[in-house]
Amino acid sequence: MSEQANIGVVGLAVMGSNLARNLASREGNRVAVYNRSFDKTQLLVSEHPEANFLAAETIDDFVASLATPRTAIIMVQAGAGTDAVIAQLAERFEPGDIIVDGGNALYTDTIRREKEVSAKGIHFVGAGISGGEEGALKGPSIMPGGTKEAYATLGPILETIAAVAEGEPCVTHIGSDGAGHFVKMIHNGIEYADMQLIAEAYDLLRQSGGFSPAEIADIFAEWNKGELESYLIEITAEVLKQTDAKTGKPFVDVVLDAAGSKGTGVWTVQTALNLGTPVSGIAEAVFARSLSSQAEQRAGKPELPASAQSWSVEDKPAFVEAVRRALYASKIVAYAQGFDAIRAGAKEFNWEINLGEVAKIWRGGCIIRAQFLNRITDAYRKNESLLSLLFDEYFISAIEASVASWREVVAMAALSGIPAPAFSSSLSYYDGLRAERLPAALVQGQRDFFGAHTYKRVDMEGTFHTLWSGDRTEVQTD
Ligand code: 6PG
Repeated sequence: MSEQANIGVVGLAVMGSNLARNLASREGNRVAVYNRSFDKTQLLVSEHPEANFLAAETIDDFVASLATPRTAIIMVQAGAGTDAVIAQLAERFEPGDIIVDGGNALYTDTIRREKEVSAKGIHFVGAGISGGEEGALKGPSIMPGGTKEAYATLGPILETIAAVAEGEPCVTHIGSDGAGHFVKMIHNGIEYADMQLIAEAYDLLRQSGGFSPAEIADIFAEWNKGELESYLIEITAEVLKQTDAKTGKPFVDVVLDAAGSKGTGVWTVQTALNLGTPVSGIAEAVFARSLSSQAEQRAGKPELPASAQSWSVEDKPAFVEAVRRALYASKIVAYAQGFDAIRAGAKEFNWEINLGEVAKIWRGGCIIRAQFLNRITDAYRKNESLLSLLFDEYFISAIEASVASWREVVAMAALSGIPAPAFSSSLSYYDGLRAERLPAALVQGQRDFFGAHTYKRVDMEGTFHTLWSGDRTEVQTD
């Protein structure tokens, strides 16, 4: 066994330790490990002698233990900590070596870091790693950016640890500089939308269907056998099955209904707004978490008028199926919008991102892994320049089978006073995409009236303005 490592990991919290263990468990890898506090390194080594780690007490020992081209994956908290470790490695690495940031870094930070580090001839790779602690240990989905040259060395190592779907490793070179972290960010945005949609389906089944958490767990477990099969549906059934040991109540009933967020969903929406690409389902998911956390406002609310009707569900199986269809249709919109955002980002930042390859590596290992990602892979394989996933014939027929139920569920949720922001915004987005004429024409008139912001006409080229405060004649401005 080589006395030098072909890969190193810096930062041995749970994710870093699990990734190091995963790497060490694979044929051909010798793994160097380093942590600022050495006792964590010693604990990892003592708990896992089988990993045969090269344990370094100092960063110099760590660098010395790496065979060239030195390749190190940083697994520390995104932010200043990452910058500090990058600086330590960049001081000691040589041209051709590779620094990988495996944290949830903001892609603009990665673009900046890549510029700084590559100026020294050292490769910098921002790699999204999805799948949580279990994924890091058993097989994550990995989204590395950076140069093709770096990927020539790094890719084969990552392929040894990535999840495998349909016989293929869930890792691919996403694109240059920040492309990998950008795609990971969109992954997290879709994750937010997916989780919100599932939560809304649960709320409807609970409030209108009158099902208990345990019964809804069974419904989700059943749904997980069909087109909704996915990690998030699977774990939702587990969460809803859980009872609280202290009270014997359903676990979901003792949890405070205020959702947290580490921020990646917020980044997705901010970025989409800047790129001018709608991510309504993701945005509503982010805002739903914000609303749930408005403790003072929610505690201080007066009795608010509702005029809600009680949705009397006579045919429960039909109701459950309608909610399932509404969930699937809304999920398709969320993924379609996510892929649109990736395309918009690629255009803005000059990345060559293959959307089919992204769908392919999301089929396993990551939090949004789902059976229907095979369908998305197929759609982009058939037509890489698909203008929207919603225009692919498979998804057209999937929506066709669901849209009546989708409308019924959204309408009944509104009539019943049950909040379903992601369901309803996804349906409105779909109807907006379908519409031959949008009320944006009136918005243009309003903008021209108060701000002389001009407008285009449907029947002739050019830009126009109406003299609203004068004789209201129209003038052509270019
Ligand atoms: C993943 C997860 C991971 C993290 C979430 C939590 O892909 O493995 O997405 O990155 O657990 O980002 O994010 P929130 O705290 O924002 O829900």
